[in-house]
Formats: sequence, C-alpha cells, structure tokens
Amino acid sequence: MLRRMEEGARVLYTEDAIRQRVGVLAAEISRDYAGRDPILVSVLKGAAWFLADLMKATTITCRMDFMAISSYGGAEESMGVVRILQDLELDIGGHHVILVEDIVDTGLTLSYLLSTLSSREPASISVCALLDKSVRRIVPVEIRYRGFDCPDRFVVGYGLDHGERYRNLRCILEVDPGELEEDPLALVPYLERP
Ligand code: IMP
Repeated sequence: MLRRMEEGARVLYTEDAIRQRVGVLAAEISRDYAGRDPILVSVLKGAAWFLADLMKATTITCRMDFMAISSYGGAEESMGVVRILQDLELDIGGHHVILVEDIVDTGLTLSYLLSTLSSREPASISVCALLDKSVRRIVPVEIRYRGFDCPDRFVVGYGLDHGERYRNLRCILEVDPGELEEDPLALVPYLERP
C-alpha cells in the first residue's frame, strides 16, 4: 500500500515489507536449490543490497559473484546495449546460476545478461528480481523469483540510486526524478532514523 509522506516522494515498500518478501524468496530458493550449491550472480551496484540480504536468509550452501556493466544508453533509459566492465571471478560452467537483479524494467539488460551467461554453459540459470516493472517490458524474460510487481514510477532506496545517492535508504521510495534533479537533497529526511 502506498503511503503519501510529502509531495514528490512516497514510501512504496517499507523496510519490513522488503525484509518479509526477501525472506519468502530465500525460503523458495533454499527449497528449490537444496543440494545444488547455486552461484548467485549479481550486477553492481544496485543489486548488492538485495543479494546480501537474500543470501543471509538462505539455508543452503551457495556462492556469490558480481559483474559490473555499463549501458551505452541514457542513465535511466536503458538501450539494452551492455558492456561488461568487470567480469565474474567464478567459472559458472556446469553450475546452477541464479541471476539476482534489483529491478527489471524493459528487460533489455536482463536478456543481454542471460544470453551472455548462458553461453558459458551453466547447468541451469534462473532469475530472482526484487522489483518487476512488468508494464514496461519490451523483451519477455522469465522471472522465477519476484519480490514485487512495481508500478511504472522512478524508485530509489535499498540499493537503487538517483545520481548515486539514496542507495542507503532502508525502504524503497517512489520519487519524481525531475524534483530530485532540482533539489538532490530533498530526500534527506527519509535517511534519518526515528
Ligand atoms: P532494463 O534494461 O530497462 O530492464 O533496465 C534495468 C536497469 O535500469 C536496472 O538495473 C536499473 O539500473 C535501472 N532502473 C530502471 N528503473 C529504475 C528505477 O526506477 N530506479 C533506479 N534505477 C532504475
């Protein structure tokens, strides 16, 4: 449920709601991947928060690895053309891989990553995404583990940024990017602890 806090920003998912949902996803993954020792692969930087909490909540052996990518498109409007800036350390060939994403928007980035990782011949590959902006999808992608179906709004917090700020918000806020552009410090009150 949306809670209006002030003009221009609203809490979309509270810290509690996120924790609860991450726990459910981790339980599903623990059940499905018991004895399969999966590698959780994540893309820097936004998904790092989700990956860490998800992994902490699992009850099976698993490993993690990171990639860094840059898209040639605009900062917020992905064109699906992706360059790998930092590759995985682990060899995923023959291993079960779970690609952990913070948010799937058009699906262009995810479909590129899936084809790149699939070419390394993992035993299997599935996707776990915290937020799914499903109405924005251009390329169909299967998201086996999904946290929330996210409305078509710009969101920040829990790893997601606006100009590299606000990743440290513990909740996820829906914001007006135009207003933040004008006043980049507008969300400071949301960073303060009660
Ligand atoms: P896609 O290729 O269009 O699916 O783009 C996904 C990427 O766009 C995510 O990994 C984010 O980096 C970025 N992104 C999409 N929507 C948002 C948002 O609302 N807030 C912050 N980043 C976003």
